[in-house]
Amino acid sequence: MKNITTTSLRIRENQLWILDQQALPQQSDWRPCPDVAALVDHIRTLRVRGAPLIGLSASLLLALLAEGGMPQSDLYQALETLRESRPTAVNLMNNLDRMKAALAHTDFVPTLVAEALRLVDEDRALCDSIADHGAELVKPGSRLLTHCNTGGLATAGVGTALGVIARAHQQGKVEQVWVDETRPLLQGGRLTAWELGEQRIPYRLICDSMAASVMAQGKVDAIWVGADRIAANGDVANKIGTYSLAVLAKYHGIPFYVAAPHTTHDPHCPNGAAIPIEQRAASEVTGVSGSFGSVQWAPEDAQVYNPAFDVTPAALISGWVLDVGVVTPEQVSEGIFAASLR
Ligand code: MRU
Repeated sequence: MKNITTTSLRIRENQLWILDQQALPQQSDWRPCPDVAALVDHIRTLRVRGAPLIGLSASLLLALLAEGGMPQSDLYQALETLRESRPTAVNLMNNLDRMKAALAHTDFVPTLVAEALRLVDEDRALCDSIADHGAELVKPGSRLLTHCNTGGLATAGVGTALGVIARAHQQGKVEQVWVDETRPLLQGGRLTAWELGEQRIPYRLICDSMAASVMAQGKVDAIWVGADRIAANGDVANKIGTYSLAVLAKYHGIPFYVAAPHTTHDPHCPNGAAIPIEQRAASEVTGVSGSFGSVQWAPEDAQVYNPAFDVTPAALISGWVLDVGVVTPEQVSEGIFAASLR
């Protein structure tokens, strides 16, 4: 396969490499990803994260394994194992469905390679379209709040919600970004802060629990988040903490936008209650670990509840900003998400 470079994925000499998102921003560690077990481990530990990036890394690995001579029956097995690695993100399932169709071809090796490369190119284009549509909604002088990380690290392109913010900043419309640190895994504090710094976009990092206070002080003009899955009724699953931001936004009269590619939409999922939510290890809540080491502050035997995502009801969302355009609450009430968007 030809070499590829995105912010957090590389193909070099027919090998997949991933930028370890657990080690950033202190360390820039590129790790090899030679087989399915390695990629599943990277996804589960969130070294590879962000719904679009997970789908792309799985697709590229399958194509590389095919090129390396893996038999067709084993590739089917590998594909199903990868499908299990992140239950909430539907981009992974959508990408793997396309790879499965490619795998059914008699000349499946070049077909898989072409499809994986197409998915990467498409993702870049989807991000650009989302950024264009979203930036039109950003008013000059905006102070925007975002959660988790939805930038170039999480996609092959400029990102989704963070791509909108960056595009609006290029247009001179962003005064400042409030960055939720995003407990428990700190994707905001570690990754979004790093990406905004790299792009010289002014930001201030806050603990998640400070968002209400900055909204009450009138210091937030709009909230922009990403999505792991958009259900047929417009409900959205996203990183834990998103729902509380949407409730706060409603109370304070602040627009709340979800930015995502159409590949995040799942017309077969009736509503948020039907979206599977991954439960994660207690250690992520009882302490924290990263390139800086590990700390535990809670008692050894602390009982923990650690859902990775929550569901924001459609009624709290001001607009779904997709590559295909901006979907309004009225269109959602009329059932636009009940059918495929393409
Ligand atoms: O657990 P993470 O860090 O992968 O969660 C990421 C999110 O919730 C994102 O908003 C979503 O995957 C979209 S990333 C463009």
